[in-house]
Amino acid sequence: MKNIKTKLGQAEFRNPVLGASGCTGYAYELESYTDLSRYGAVTLKTVTYTPRHGNHPERIAEVPAGIISSIGLQNPGPDVFFDDTMPKVIDALDRDQIIVSVAGDTIEEYVELCCRTSQRYGEKIAALEINAACPNVRFGVGYFSRDPQAAFDLIETVKSAVSLPVFFKFNTNFENYLEVASAIDEAGVDALYTSNTPLGLKINIRTRRPAIGNVVGPICGPAIRPIGMLRVWNLYQKVKMPIIASGGVYTWEDALEYMLAGAAAVGVGSAQFVQPDVVKHIVDGLERYMERESLDSLTSLVGAAHR
Ligand SMILES: Cc1cc2nc3c(=O)[nH]c(=O)nc-3n(C[C@H](O)[C@H](O)[C@H](O)COP(=O)(O)O)c2cc1C
Repeated sequence: MKNIKTKLGQAEFRNPVLGASGCTGYAYELESYTDLSRYGAVTLKTVTYTPRHGNHPERIAEVPAGIISSIGLQNPGPDVFFDDTMPKVIDALDRDQIIVSVAGDTIEEYVELCCRTSQRYGEKIAALEINAACPNVRFGVGYFSRDPQAAFDLIETVKSAVSLPVFFKFNTNFENYLEVASAIDEAGVDALYTSNTPLGLKINIRTRRPAIGNVVGPICGPAIRPIGMLRVWNLYQKVKMPIIASGGVYTWEDALEYMLAGAAAVGVGSAQFVQPDVVKHIVDGLERYMERESLDSLTSLVGAAHR
């Protein structure tokens, strides 16, 4: 049996293929479509400090090789999340598979959410994910992804408040993303989660209006994979912390490509909309590849394309 276990800082996962936030729901909805035990972990839909209705519809539009979406972090808020959702998640997934994603407008909101999660479910989850890739109502889009000092302060404050492993999901759309990544590295997180989703636009020629209510939205899917690849390649040369890559992972070959560029693990998002059991197939594919290549682990392949 090949060892496909993956260590990301203090957190250890059964394999490096993670369900990305917002595209994997709360996992239990997928129970009848796939074998959930094959997920390395699932980052649950981001929970925000207060409930959010999300953006005006339409929220998703298909584009060549992907989709443009603008959901606006719709979620029921922490009370419902803790009382109703988390018990169902814990029934569906093992402890090492659960990553809770949180977002706030201020550092204080992030910290309070992390502390509440840790107090209530600290023994039952693998890690916290700070979602800094999302729109920020207070400070404008991507505030904690584009300001190195803001990212540093956020991480430092969260890390001093909780002992759980912490991942930081940031948006690589800003020109200074390597500078921000250095600040995140210095602050010390268990892994850097890259959301490599540039903004795009689609016009509906029937209505002669933008196809989604928010006009613009991040593009995801295979269309963006080469962009994500280059950003992961550059980040690997810049930082020491493990990198989780997302952006167009649809097959085991895509996962492997990201790993060769420097990712220690991958997040699978919209592929699950097309094929709900895709994560299982990706993990199977990686295991078969290891057999064929007589590899005992995948660790030696992380960043191998640089050497
Ligand atoms: C419908 C939808 C909802 C999403 N919701 C979240 C979210 O709540 N939190 C988050 O961190 N990322 C969210 N994302 C981003 C994904 O986690 C992922 O980073 C992105 O889809 C790129 O990966 P992909 O190309 O594999 O789809 C969402 C993406 C989509 C398409």
